[in-house]
Amino acid sequence: MSFVLFGPPGAGKGTQSVMLAKHLGALHISTGDLFRAAIKNQTPLGQQAKAFLDRGELVPDGITIGMLKEHFQTTKTKSFILDGFPRNVAQAEALKTLLLEVGLKMDQAVFLEVDQAQLIERLTGRRVCKNCGEVYHVRTRPSQKEGVCDKCGGSVVQRNDDRSEVIENRLVTYEKSTAPLRDYYRESGCYFEVNGMGEMSEIFQRILKILSKK
Ligand code: AP5
Repeated sequence: MSFVLFGPPGAGKGTQSVMLAKHLGALHISTGDLFRAAIKNQTPLGQQAKAFLDRGELVPDGITIGMLKEHFQTTKTKSFILDGFPRNVAQAEALKTLLLEVGLKMDQAVFLEVDQAQLIERLTGRRVCKNCGEVYHVRTRPSQKEGVCDKCGGSVVQRNDDRSEVIENRLVTYEKSTAPLRDYYRESGCYFEVNGMGEMSEIFQRILKILSKK
């Protein structure tokens, strides 16, 4: 079972992908995480991508598609959950070609629907571990000791692009570039929508129900 989980910034793609990957034994591929790892490790890719992430803009397609292609080639997975890719129609077209090249198939595109006020609440309250990437939220999922990761003891901080002015830009970028993917996948006949509001465990069950339809 392989699928794309997409939706606006803060919809819960990362949170749900981690739970689903564990449950389904699929590989979780987050292009946002790949970029953040490259930035942390100061690789040439990270140096190219950093300014785009800091501004809340999309990294150019050529760089993003190249990175994903390399990831697929090196991980050699059979089933995957794509989180944060594709983010526009050109990337969705590139994904079709890429999957053919690596001999994989995508079953569904699942859209997480969350209202704007909730997105802003989730993004402004999110905190992440600098060391292991574990995700927290100041109200809904705080770490036991403030600023310290429960899993590895690393520092828990706010993501650079979770500052209010960048959030605004990410939401505009989403509407312009990523929202049109809903129609793209509807036309391809593999589009499913899930209500992304409510408890994480409820949303997880809703997604599993959708996936079982395939
Ligand atoms: P990326 O990391 O993909 O960011 P995003 O799409 O903006 O998504 P987020 O990670 O912000 O949110 P999420 O939906 O994963 O929510 P989460 O589960 O963390 O991309 C970052 C940047 O990289 C982009 O801006 C771009 O520059 C670049 N990039 C990435 N992919 C690219 C591509 N394909 N092309 C070009 N550029 C690309 O949840 C958010 C918070 O809410 C957390 O604190 C969580 O604990 C909490 N939460 C989750 N679910 C619930 C719930 N049900 N109830 C209450 N709280 C919840």
